[in-house]
Amino acid sequence: MQKSILIVGACGQIGTELTYALRDKYGNENVIASDIREGNDDLMGSGPFEILDATDYDALEEVVAYYEIDEVYLMAAMLSATAEKFPMRAWNLNMNSLFNVLNLGKEKKIEKIFWPSSIAVFGMNTPKSDTPQSTIMEPSTVYGISKQSGERWCDYYHHKFGVDVRSVRYPGLISWKTKPGGGTTDYAVEIYHKALAEAKYTCFLKADTALPMMFMDDAIRATLQIMDTDYEKVKIRSSYNLSAMSFTPSEIAEIIKKHIPDFEISYDPDFRQAIANSWPSSIDDSSAQLDWGWKAEFDLEKTTEEMLGNLKK
Ligand SMILES: NC(=O)c1ccc[n+]([C@@H]2O[C@H](COP(=O)([O-])OP(=O)(O)OC[C@H]3O[C@@H](n4cnc5c(N)ncnc54)[C@H](O)[C@@H]3O)[C@@H](O)[C@H]2O)c1
Repeated sequence: MQKSILIVGACGQIGTELTYALRDKYGNENVIASDIREGNDDLMGSGPFEILDATDYDALEEVVAYYEIDEVYLMAAMLSATAEKFPMRAWNLNMNSLFNVLNLGKEKKIEKIFWPSSIAVFGMNTPKSDTPQSTIMEPSTVYGISKQSGERWCDYYHHKFGVDVRSVRYPGLISWKTKPGGGTTDYAVEIYHKALAEAKYTCFLKADTALPMMFMDDAIRATLQIMDTDYEKVKIRSSYNLSAMSFTPSEIAEIIKKHIPDFEISYDPDFRQAIANSWPSSIDDSSAQLDWGWKAEFDLEKTTEEMLGNLKK
């Protein structure tokens, strides 16, 4: 029998592409997209959609029962930069939505959960380069605190109640189909839009700020891959480190110049610089490689070709 999947927060940067990928794989009718707002025309037209508030347990339970949902992908969250402006709203959304989905698992109303964590779980005292899977964390942002707490709760629900929850710590994600939703790594998407439109970009991070990044196709592949992995092979139930590439604003500008020779970058760091300073510059994802065979395919060169090629169309 075909499984039935619910995506919560499906209209965001990742949710949109995840919905397309899951609909390709499992059939449009078996993948229910949901969000508190409507998504783009492609998403809305390609299969079932529900307006759903992830913080409302009863509403979530009703949709799960109605569509006989087996798996939930929880993508609703407030991201790092926005969460610094609305700390309590971020905490309520990021934590309550997770508890609601974990409790559906505990009550055996769903079989499997995907919930993303982030490199924001790390902090100033974390080893910055090749950050290990298990290390000092001490996040200093509201968003990072919510993600680290979320990881502990996922691990707890798995060991205490047998909930099959799976998670990866996404790095900054670069995509062209949907714009990013208020994170600290958003510059690495904006820069391509501005390069094509104006041949110049003012970056809100300093030139030498190295951060871990990933092209969206890799992030979606990792998500499907960890969800397809045999139960016993998913050994880490907090969240897996995940890595693809690491670069600075000046390095991405150099690569863009190869395609757009008159492109110019300038720098005007804002409050997001402090957030970036607290995050790793590169990530060791050997546990994900070992446990479920993770391997990234997109480096900065290939990502740039994809971004500029598709945004030009
Ligand atoms: N984009 C990245 O670079 C990145 C990196 C690391 C982790 N993540 C994580 O991945 C997940 C998805 O991120 P994204 O970039 O797609 O975010 P996004 O902001 O683009 O999308 C989030 C979606 O959630 C929806 N939403 C907000 N409140 C809701 C509610 N109460 N109920 C239902 N939906 C609600 C929004 O309308 C939006 O469509 C988040 O957990 C985020 O923390 C993202």
